[in-house]
Amino acid sequence: MATAVLEQLLARSSMPRLAAPAPDDMQLDQVLRAGLLAPDHAYLRPTRLHVVTEDGLVRLGDLFARAFLDSDPDATEKALDKARGKPLRAPMIIVACCHPSEHDKVPAIEQIASTAACVSLMQTALDSLGYGSMWRTGPMAYHPLVREQFGLTDQDHLLAFLYVGTAKGKPRVREQKQLDDYCRRF
Ligand SMILES: Cc1cc2nc3c(=O)[nH]c(=O)nc-3n(C[C@H](O)[C@H](O)[C@H](O)COP(=O)(O)O)c2cc1C
Repeated sequence: MATAVLEQLLARSSMPRLAAPAPDDMQLDQVLRAGLLAPDHAYLRPTRLHVVTEDGLVRLGDLFARAFLDSDPDATEKALDKARGKPLRAPMIIVACCHPSEHDKVPAIEQIASTAACVSLMQTALDSLGYGSMWRTGPMAYHPLVREQFGLTDQDHLLAFLYVGTAKGKPRVREQKQLDDYCRRF
């Protein structure tokens, strides 16, 4: 018999269409705390989260347009407007970054895995509160101008723009995976 958590996980779906309201401050606090409890080898605390709302979404859009123009100096106004509008697809974006430390037993990949787990836990926490989310990256996650604004050095990574809000539309109905295609007993 599935527990409530399992039922939630087995029905999980990314929700691309998101509108206000976003989580309130108390809910956001819980979501961020749940994420930051992700497994973290040697407690190196590699994850940093940036919550973007309201004016911040507009500033992020301007940053995306600048970065887009930097990559393509011939970009049309239409293309720049599209880039500028991307963060406005949700009332909140949580930007998840990984700042790996040098450690003799914990390579960077483990620290990146910890940040990825954080994002996934936040999605589960948001689901449980009745909010939708969508993990996005795209070229903006790797653009030097964007990376600089989030304080990333060459060793750091922008793992996610986690778009958050109230889901519009229904979750996708999923086909059951054939476990044998992906799972083996060792
Ligand atoms: C690291 C990472 C980056 C992603 N970036 C994007 C993205 O930029 N655009 C997108 O449409 N989906 C992106 N996805 C996939 C979606 O978040 C989502 O998982 C996918 O649409 C499948 O939907 P589901 O989560 O409901 O199975 C990304 C997923 C991961 C793990």
